[in-house]
Amino acid sequence: MIRIGSLLAASFTLARADYNCSAGCSLDALVMGPAVCGSDGLTYANECLAWCQGIELDSLGPCESLLEESAFVMNSEVIDEATITRFADEEFRFVTKRTRYAKKIENLENMSAFDDEYEVEETGIDRHYVRITSDGYEYASRYSLLNETLGPTTLYKGLADGYEFIVKNRNLIIIGNDTRSAVPDTTLYPFRAIGASDYRWGNNSCTATMISRTSALTAAHCVWNYNEGRPMPITRIAPGRYFDSESNQHLEPFGMWEVDYATAFGEYRETRNRYFDMAVVTYKPISRPDLGCDEVYPGDIVGYVAIDSIVSSSNGVIDPRIADITITGYPYDFRRGEMTTSGPCSPPARSNGAHYLRYYCDTAGGMSGSALLTKENIALGNHAGGSGGANVGPVMSKDMFDAVYTWAGLGTQSQVGCRPIDNVSEKDCPCPSGGNPWNQIICWFLNIQGCIRVARQNASRP
Ligand SMILES: *[C@@H]1O[C@H](CO)[C@@H](O)[C@H](O)[C@H]1NC(C)=O
Ligand SMILES: *[C@@H]1O[C@H](CO)[C@@H](O)[C@H](O)[C@H]1NC(C)=O
Ligand SMILES: *[C@@H]1O[C@H](CO)[C@@H](O)[C@H](O)[C@H]1NC(C)=O
Ligand SMILES: *[C@@H]1O[C@H](CO)[C@@H](O)[C@H](O)[C@H]1NC(C)=O
Ligand SMILES: *[C@@H]1O[C@H](CO)[C@@H](O)[C@H](O)[C@H]1NC(C)=O
Ligand SMILES: *[C@@H]1O[C@H](CO)[C@@H](O)[C@H](O)[C@H]1NC(C)=O
Ligand SMILES: *[C@@H]1O[C@H](CO)[C@@H](O)[C@H](O)[C@H]1NC(C)=O
Repeated sequence: MIRIGSLLAASFTLARADYNCSAGCSLDALVMGPAVCGSDGLTYANECLAWCQGIELDSLGPCESLLEESAFVMNSEVIDEATITRFADEEFRFVTKRTRYAKKIENLENMSAFDDEYEVEETGIDRHYVRITSDGYEYASRYSLLNETLGPTTLYKGLADGYEFIVKNRNLIIIGNDTRSAVPDTTLYPFRAIGASDYRWGNNSCTATMISRTSALTAAHCVWNYNEGRPMPITRIAPGRYFDSESNQHLEPFGMWEVDYATAFGEYRETRNRYFDMAVVTYKPISRPDLGCDEVYPGDIVGYVAIDSIVSSSNGVIDPRIADITITGYPYDFRRGEMTTSGPCSPPARSNGAHYLRYYCDTAGGMSGSALLTKENIALGNHAGGSGGANVGPVMSKDMFDAVYTWAGLGTQSQVGCRPIDNVSEKDCPCPSGGNPWNQIICWFLNIQGCIRVARQNASRP
């Protein structure tokens, strides 16, 4: 008997053959039983999910003694096989679905307020990664896939390079002896690769910097609220957003991209270890027929910066490049949506542990997630918080670099650009020209998608 929707609460110790994986796994605990701990040490919402991903059962109940809300999904949704295995080639397993999100936070950076000489104890928890999609599907991975990757990665200036943009009312604003300044032209590289992160409850709440075609670097606390134990409802990125004095609002010179998923280190999520307050957000492609692109990611248009791991010794970070890092983003105390850059930070940044920096750039909330960018446009880490005395943020150790590199798709990234519209053929709109106009209209109606593509292509031909 196949048990989708047909099982009594008391009898959830199914014979495994009863799971029909191609029919998916329900999240309903009354149907599929309680959360289980898999032999890989990850907690799955139920045994069906573990079994259908080839994971043996270790014990009933979640792996940690702490019972997370995610372990008690009461949701009749059936997760189909494609969703369960969506990230299987990256060794990410579907574990549960999140239905509750963190509440609005007025000043995100306050979440990371820290003691001046903050020292992190390595917690020794097993290394794992967590990924949550915009639909709330949660995946986890135990694996570090790469070992031989070497940075820095290659930066790319984007299709926007060479295009002329109409830039309105960008006056350089210097406030007092604050060394920050508004970025006069956010359509220039690398500024256009930096974007404001929007949330369901408001805009410009964190900063993210493109590091690949599809993905941006940000802080983990921009995607996960440790205090509430819930994901942040991050919705999209607006690369190169600027404040337009004429209309008195922020504008998006390159448009906006919706979030597909965010990936972070389990160390931050489980223990708030600030050495791991780093995350990667991946966006869904959009169609830009005006640029001849059928499917285009933000990095294709605005470009992306390079990433690299830092040089460190047993005494901490000894990388000379940290001396000239700057940070650029969207602070709360400037006009909202005004991209602001720190300028050179003085005195120079210094090590605050194995892969953590203290630096003295002027920042404010909203800059959380901004890349710690060298003058060669290499992101070494991200801004995560501050106190009156200094700012702090994690930089990439070699293993963190490998993780970020993989999450951002840099290992598998296909050729930069966009999926062009120009390869559509007439057979996409198989309507004979001439002949009976009524037949043609009906034909158009039945082939509307293909015909629109062909018409767009015709229109873009010189
Ligand atoms: C398993 O589910 C699939 C998809 O719903 C269905 O086509 C197939 O017949 C099911 N297999 C069994 C053994 O019931
Ligand atoms: C957040 O930080 C700002 C600036 O330090 C402070 O004025 C504000 O009271 C803080 N908010 C909370 C909720 O702690
Ligand atoms: C990666 O390299 C480290 C150190 O050389 C080694 O301990 C580890 O087993 C390697 N991991 C993989 C997956 O090869
Ligand atoms: C900033 O400017 C004020 C007034 O001009 C001055 O009193 C103060 O010393 C300056 N601070 C720094 C750090 O330069
Ligand atoms: C957020 O930004 C979008 C795009 O500019 C705008 O349409 C929307 O009104 C903004 N929302 C708020 C609350 O400011
Ligand atoms: C256009 O190119 C893309 C990517 O190369 C391909 O996936 C798609 O099938 C092509 N479309 C047509 C109509 O040839
Ligand atoms: C596109 O152009 C070709 C000739 O260049 C024409 O035959 C065809 O009807 C056009 N298709 C559409 C949908 O406009």
